[in-house]
Amino acid sequence: MNDTEIIKLQARCVSHEIRNHVSICEMYTEILRKNLERDGYKNPSAENALECIKKSLKIIGNSLLDLKSINNLSPQNCDFKFLVEEGVRLSQAYILGKNITINCFVKNTATIFVDDNKFLACVVNIIKNGIEAIDAKGEINVIGEVKNNIAHLRISNNGKMISKEKQREIFEQGFTTKPTGSGLGLHICKSNLKAQKAELKLNKSTKSVTEFEITIPVIV
Ligand SMILES: Nc1ncnc2c1ncn2[C@@H]1O[C@H](COP(=O)(O)OP(=O)(O)O)[C@@H](O)[C@H]1O
Ligand SMILES: [Mg+2]
Repeated sequence: MNDTEIIKLQARCVSHEIRNHVSICEMYTEILRKNLERDGYKNPSAENALECIKKSLKIIGNSLLDLKSINNLSPQNCDFKFLVEEGVRLSQAYILGKNITINCFVKNTATIFVDDNKFLACVVNIIKNGIEAIDAKGEINVIGEVKNNIAHLRISNNGKMISKEKQREIFEQGFTTKPTGSGLGLHICKSNLKAQKAELKLNKSTKSVTEFEITIPVIV
């Protein structure tokens, strides 16, 4: 076997092992949810946590399928506001115990034709980067708006700025300034969104604000 074949096989084996354990997590999440329901235990925070775990497991499973085929996109009609709010809900896990708030305001909505898991993964990636750019205290603003048949999603934070030189490199595969970073997040977001007729760009990065924007045509 040559190196490429070894890596392919290894990727399939790792994917297989992860999927086995994802399905265990999915099963136990469902058991937990049913048990809580059966015992009449009402706790919105626990219910929200279970929903988020379920959704994240879906996204993991979907990402693993990308190892099998390159164009693993399942686009469908989705509500823009719903997806954005779902992305924010999932991202709340990253601010636990931190002095950071995520504000979300979606002015109006429309139908967009996207792979919901992949779109969500992009929103989460960008919010996570924003959180990681904030040292101690700060905020993330997620603003959605549909204008002239285009849905705009602006995600900004008031953390450290991206220098002019680095701004040219951030979308490149493997570019990272973090000790344990992969430098893949923005690259994946950009190519996933492009495959869905959407666009991701950095609007600005100054001392006071860094803002990314996703634009995507809506279904009319
Ligand atoms: N919101 C942001 N604020 C400041 N820097 C950012 C932001 N988003 C991305 N970056 C920069 O872009 C780099 C690449 O991001 P990404 O592709 O997500 O990889 P990673 O997060 O693994 O480093 C980061 O290491 C960071 O330097
Ligand atoms: Mg990242």
